[in-house]
Amino acid sequence: MSFENILIETRGEGERKTGLITLNRPKQLNALNDALMDELGAALKAYDADAGIGCIVITGSEKAFAAGADITAMAKFDFNDTYGGDFITRNWETIRSIRKPVIGAVAGFALGGGCELAMMCDFIIAADTAKFGQPEIKLGIIPGAGGTQRLPRAVGKAKAMDMVLTSRTIDAAEAERAGLVSRVVPFAELMTVTLAAAQTINELSGPSVMMAKESVNRSFEGTLADGIMFERRMFHSLFATADQKEGMDAFLNKRKPAFKQR
Ligand code: HXC
Repeated sequence: MSFENILIETRGEGERKTGLITLNRPKQLNALNDALMDELGAALKAYDADAGIGCIVITGSEKAFAAGADITAMAKFDFNDTYGGDFITRNWETIRSIRKPVIGAVAGFALGGGCELAMMCDFIIAADTAKFGQPEIKLGIIPGAGGTQRLPRAVGKAKAMDMVLTSRTIDAAEAERAGLVSRVVPFAELMTVTLAAAQTINELSGPSVMMAKESVNRSFEGTLADGIMFERRMFHSLFATADQKEGMDAFLNKRKPAFKQR
């Protein structure tokens, strides 16, 4: 595959590696247009289908993860283009169907659609330079890629309303305090730390990793009782895998497990 708006490379050692996707429209601070989102979706699907990949990382540049949806493109849109053209729904949400873990490594601006894309990742590791915000209100619109839904689930209603209604941007420290990001590291260490987290996941059993991701995602949909029942059945079914036997035998015999991904 060849891409114009993203860079893709494989990182890591071992049987399963990390698919690293770098958003790459530097002159526009990685503003997200249809071409980029089509390429991102294709790259995500390809990594998800590749048995040699255990985990995916999405990152941007030092200055910007992504400064939002491309305002130059959106400025020309009317209702027929958005509703009629199924804007966002058509190609932004491929990431929701990805079964392997996706980590967002965020430095610099993650604004508007950029913040929303980061929140679609399974978790975010932020550089101390990261800035998160939903400034759409200043453009006479509102967040349209899940921001009004995922942000309050992550940071609570008060902070989400503050950000969405006033366009206030929060820094990495505030984002960590609020629960939007899992860790904050110095910018120079962002990729080392993120790729190490991905490598940790690569070395685990793929079926249990996928079921863990699916189960945590269930906590945001439906009732607690349904979510717990879903988790229980996933948990039960893992006892049918060779990797459960291997993982527990390795622990009891004080050795490193050799997972077979089945
Ligand atoms: C298109 C963008 C852009 C964007 C920046 N650029 N953000 N182009 N869409 N979202 C372009 C600028 O026009 C400029 O182009 C170049 O990138 C560098 O940006 P500057 O503004 O010169 O940089 P700086 O002064 O450092 O300011 C950085 C910034 C600012 C604070 C991030 O660029 C900014 O406010 N950007 C817009 C942020 C925003 O409103 N995002 C939400 C978009 S709406 P030139 O050609 O002049 O060099 C949205 C909708 C989501 O995301 C809902 C559906 C997904």
